[in-house]
Amino acid sequence: MEEKYLSAQMVLKKAGQEQLLDCYDILPKEKQENLLNEILTTDFAQIAKLYEKSKQEISFKEAKIEPIAYVEKAKMSKEDYEKYDKIGSKIIQEGKYAVVIMAGGQGTRLGHDAPKGTYDLGLASHKSIFELLCDTLKEAEQKYGVYVPWYVMTSRQNNKDTIDFFEKNNYFGYPKGKVMFFIQGEQPIVDENGKLMLDENGEINQAADGHGGIFVAMRKSGVIYDMKTKGVEWAFICGVDNVLAKMVDSVFVGLATDKKVLAAGKSVVKAYPEEKVGVFCKKNGRPSVIEYSEISKEMAEQREPNGELTFGESHILCNLFHIDAIDDMSKDKLPYHIAHKKIKYMDKNGNIVKPEKPNAYKFETFLFDAFESLEDMAIMRVKREEEFAPVKNAEGVDSPETARKLYNDFHHIK
Ligand code: UTP
Repeated sequence: MEEKYLSAQMVLKKAGQEQLLDCYDILPKEKQENLLNEILTTDFAQIAKLYEKSKQEISFKEAKIEPIAYVEKAKMSKEDYEKYDKIGSKIIQEGKYAVVIMAGGQGTRLGHDAPKGTYDLGLASHKSIFELLCDTLKEAEQKYGVYVPWYVMTSRQNNKDTIDFFEKNNYFGYPKGKVMFFIQGEQPIVDENGKLMLDENGEINQAADGHGGIFVAMRKSGVIYDMKTKGVEWAFICGVDNVLAKMVDSVFVGLATDKKVLAAGKSVVKAYPEEKVGVFCKKNGRPSVIEYSEISKEMAEQREPNGELTFGESHILCNLFHIDAIDDMSKDKLPYHIAHKKIKYMDKNGNIVKPEKPNAYKFETFLFDAFESLEDMAIMRVKREEEFAPVKNAEGVDSPETARKLYNDFHHIK
């Protein structure tokens, strides 16, 4: 142990991360051992590189950004609608369709001390977000006569709590055998000076590596293999925090199939130019999303002759992927972005600090960065009031209060 400690000390000195041993003496024996092992297996050079690189702004200046073509669901001709519905329904009925919910995020803005999906939205039914989403799968079973396979991506931190919640709630009445959990990867978090921190367990503070980690996680955890074995051809992938996500939409599946693309995305019209949502676009001829923090004011305000925003197709994290696309995407590493977050940590005296404001940087990959590997995507504009009720913040915009109202309005609940 003494030797291991000295090796760890040397590694840290070289990496300029000596603070990781500040609490060593006050940790229990087994945690000391664990920490040394973590230190000796961490790639500090990669983290230093990420920290330096992620501070540089991603520039769209050199890229050719153009609006993307889309189909509006509400304005489809009757023939098209029926054609897509028929194609999609057949795929669903034949068991070639699956749903994946990404629930590995930390939900720091909501501040709920448990996985976001377990959050009681405050409806009269007191259903959790997971149960509300499961309701749509049960409805689909009524309509198509099949239980759609349901995959739930968790993180190392919230995996057990998530599974326990499903168990406690008897999988909300969904067949347990149709549900599969898988854990996404993680990345160490650094403080504002690029230093690693310990978490409340005396381990190196790490967090889920962003929703873009999904493809690699699907491969590593055997989800892609499982889907292929089951004959799944299309997977709808969405976040856990949209309580109106329409996860089984035959028209959407039919559209993607008919257009012979390997992926499709749902969009809603951006409410106003400054709205904090990413928008679909074409970047150097390929499908892409520009984040709200990356779009110029001029582009955000640009309008078409009919008055609509030129870049107005908001990305709502409701996308459909062909299994071949998922397979390809799982082989490429996506770029990391940096996110300033409130992260609990152990200070040098062993106290757990719960910061009031963002204190650390997380490195995250974004699912939509994978779009650029595709030749094309079908974008289907849907109605915001029917399919988008995000739960992001504790109060105000995109909060439980706004989502509750949208949910109740959509379901005609007074
Ligand atoms: P957000 O970007 O809103 O992040 O995730 P978040 O972690 O939930 O919340 P904040 O920013 O800390 O407040 C959008 C969706 O992607 C999932 C989230 O669970 C959510 O459904 N996600 C995000 C993951 O599954 N893994 C991640 O690493 C990040």
